[in-house]
Amino acid sequence: MKRISAPVVLVFLSIVLMSLTIDLQNLDNYANQFIPDYILKQNTPPNNPTTDAGATLGRVLFYDKKLSVNNTIACASCHKQEFAFSDTSLVSTGVNGVTGRHAMRLINPRFSVERRFFWDERANTLEEQTTMPIQDHSEMGYSGQNGDPGFADLLDKLDKVPYYNDLFKLAFGDTMITENRMQRALAQFVRSIQSFDSKYDAGRSMSLNDQMPFPNFTQQENMGKNLFLAPPVFNPMGERVGGGAGCAGCHGAPEFDIAPNSQNNGVTLTVNGEFDPTVTRSPSLRDLIRTDGVLNGPMMHNGVMKDLGMVIDHYNDIMPDVMNQNLDPKLRPNGFPQKLNLTNQERTALIAFLRTLSGTDVYTNPIWSNPFDPDGSITILNGTTAIDEPQITASDIRLFPNPASSSFTLSGLETEAQISLMNTKGQLLQQVTSNGYDETLIISDLPAGVYMVVVQVPNQQERIIKKLIKQ
Ligand code: HEC
Ligand code: HEC
Repeated sequence: MKRISAPVVLVFLSIVLMSLTIDLQNLDNYANQFIPDYILKQNTPPNNPTTDAGATLGRVLFYDKKLSVNNTIACASCHKQEFAFSDTSLVSTGVNGVTGRHAMRLINPRFSVERRFFWDERANTLEEQTTMPIQDHSEMGYSGQNGDPGFADLLDKLDKVPYYNDLFKLAFGDTMITENRMQRALAQFVRSIQSFDSKYDAGRSMSLNDQMPFPNFTQQENMGKNLFLAPPVFNPMGERVGGGAGCAGCHGAPEFDIAPNSQNNGVTLTVNGEFDPTVTRSPSLRDLIRTDGVLNGPMMHNGVMKDLGMVIDHYNDIMPDVMNQNLDPKLRPNGFPQKLNLTNQERTALIAFLRTLSGTDVYTNPIWSNPFDPDGSITILNGTTAIDEPQITASDIRLFPNPASSSFTLSGLETEAQISLMNTKGQLLQQVTSNGYDETLIISDLPAGVYMVVVQVPNQQERIIKKLIKQ
């Protein structure tokens, strides 16, 4: 039997541990990543350039389930690295139900002329977008409406989380947590997600422009590229009689971002089958499908297209719809919904080309990976708090009933702690060790008066003192 040697196991373990550790004195590189020279579109605002510290904070926020009301949903719950930061589910599950649209891939969000975000472009900037899911009742739940806690409650909650002291201080100079700082950090992280190691990029970097045949492409892929790039020639009835498929008219190479002024593409039904002509944005067409053939989720805002063939079929023959006044003029030549009349060969060539737009690095690179351990803890090296322990504060703990007569229960601990009952002179009357569950103490023997319940959590210097009144 082949045995794995101890040093090999050690090296393997330390690699795994490294990827889960954030070293504040040796940050990952987000600010100066390699960007190919043919990539020119950018939407970074001058007041929020990406820094290593800002993006590192953004990474922790992106993966932190504490950003949701019940600590179960992080941004990454719906934007999964292994699927190009999208979700293979048609709609994604939040704290109170599911989303109304399919989760968008977050690939090269920084490299576009368009500065607005979401399928319907309702967020004016990426910064503005980042806290909208947190304030959405069904996604993360801090809406401040109809009984939901508000954003101020989230800020209070994060204030008590030790690792954010270090991370906000490093990113912004002091430990203050504000919505604006969260937006800036999250946007820096999202903007840092980039994918430029595709077959397309290899070909593009060897060629003077997009129009030339790429030396690393098959004939079919080059044919697909030409079809993607070239505008169609239409007859008066809106039927293609020459030219290409016109995709680049809206999904411009080499970023494959959406043209800022584009209107909808004729996909106008919501996941619930209602009419919605407002979708005018698409994420970059890069990384639609992984190089191993796995689709990174169904396509379009309603997730109606389950493979690339369905996409081509849609554009090949756009369905007439008198309701849809928002169909982009490029897709209704001479007033008719376009008919591309693509041959089978052209259809497969287009699909082959779309498949060249995927890389591999973005799916596994640790700089965009989950920094939390499976148990929800995070290791920050060279900060003031080396290892995080959940910090318990007085507001987490409840005594009831209070006033009490024969017994009272202490709840909200959720961690091991020593509970001491003292009188006002500081004399110890009772002591129990709790392992995180509610703890009930009998006090029927004690005289009426004021007592102190002192909670000591291991690794937490400050003791928590609550006042108890015995009737
Ligand atoms: C419950 C699932 C869910 C959660 C949680 C979630 N998102 Fe999303 N995200 C979506 C969906 C669905 C869309 C598309 C919504 C739309 O356009 O109406 C989206 C869209 C986006 C976009 C727009 C991309 C583009 O190209 O326009 C960004 C950026 C984004 N999310 C970032 C985040 C961040 C940052 C967080 C955490 C603060 C987050 N999301 C949390 C589901 C989610
Ligand atoms: C008039 C502008 C326009 C043209 C031309 C166009 N598209 Fe699109 N495309 C869009 C818009 C807008 C969306 C988002 C629509 C939606 O989700 O309903 C989109 C979405 C897509 C998507 C889904 C992206 C995702 O993340 O789910 C694919 C794939 C796509 N287009 C491929 C193509 C191809 C291939 C062509 C050429 C045959 C093409 N498009 C031509 C505007 C256009």
